Amino acid sequence: MENLFQVAIDGPAAAGKSTVAKIAAKKLGFVYIDTGAMYRSLTFKALSENANLNDGHQLKQLLDRTEIQLVHDESGQKVYVDGEDVTERIRYPDVTKQVSLVSSYEEVRTEMVARQRKLAESCSVVMDGRDIGTHVLPNAQVKIFLIASVDERAVRRYREEELKGRHPSMESLKAAIALRDKKDMEREISPLVKAEDAIAVDTTSMSIEDVVSQILHYVKEKQLS
Ligand code: DC
Repeated sequence: MENLFQVAIDGPAAAGKSTVAKIAAKKLGFVYIDTGAMYRSLTFKALSENANLNDGHQLKQLLDRTEIQLVHDESGQKVYVDGEDVTERIRYPDVTKQVSLVSSYEEVRTEMVARQRKLAESCSVVMDGRDIGTHVLPNAQVKIFLIASVDERAVRRYREEELKGRHPSMESLKAAIALRDKKDMEREISPLVKAEDAIAVDTTSMSIEDVVSQILHYVKEKQLS
């Protein structure tokens, strides 16, 4: 299809990808696709069914009979697994803890990437994840790699948790973020790495608005070129 535009936003856990990607997509009139939510959805289903998380083939078979839907409405993105609203549930610590393992299997990733590419076939998208610029959408017109210090990311996660009435210790948040970074960067298949042609944006001391306007600037620049 003509004139489709793709914005890939990658980066480590809690770097603010989904927050800025969501706002940027809305401002651009593009569809926002949260690929982390797809891996979280499979992890949720695997936990609910007591699947063996060490068996990538079993997880792929589970994925084959799992419908994951990302639905957009005024209140933002909702995530459904086989018709059940799991938007909140997939952010719980049990899912967060296991999602790096579930997303490490080649068979699982191949299927997820196919689903993600299909979602980007018919509309302009802002897609966020770990391997979007390197693997899922290698021809994306704009690729952003968001980073932020572990301390800053832990503070942001704490604020999110606080809004939900939870008060984890900063030390545990920092340790969990650092561990997930390590697992995402060290996995064999499509590890988290900056694409050569991605623009690195360090958001440590930037506001959400500043990050969004920088992304919009790069998109406009490309659209005019
Ligand atoms: O963005 P997030 O924290 O919701 O992502 C959850 C996990 O899913 C993350 O730890 C790694 C994995 N993931 C991935 O491997 N590839 C993606 N494109 C998106 C997420």
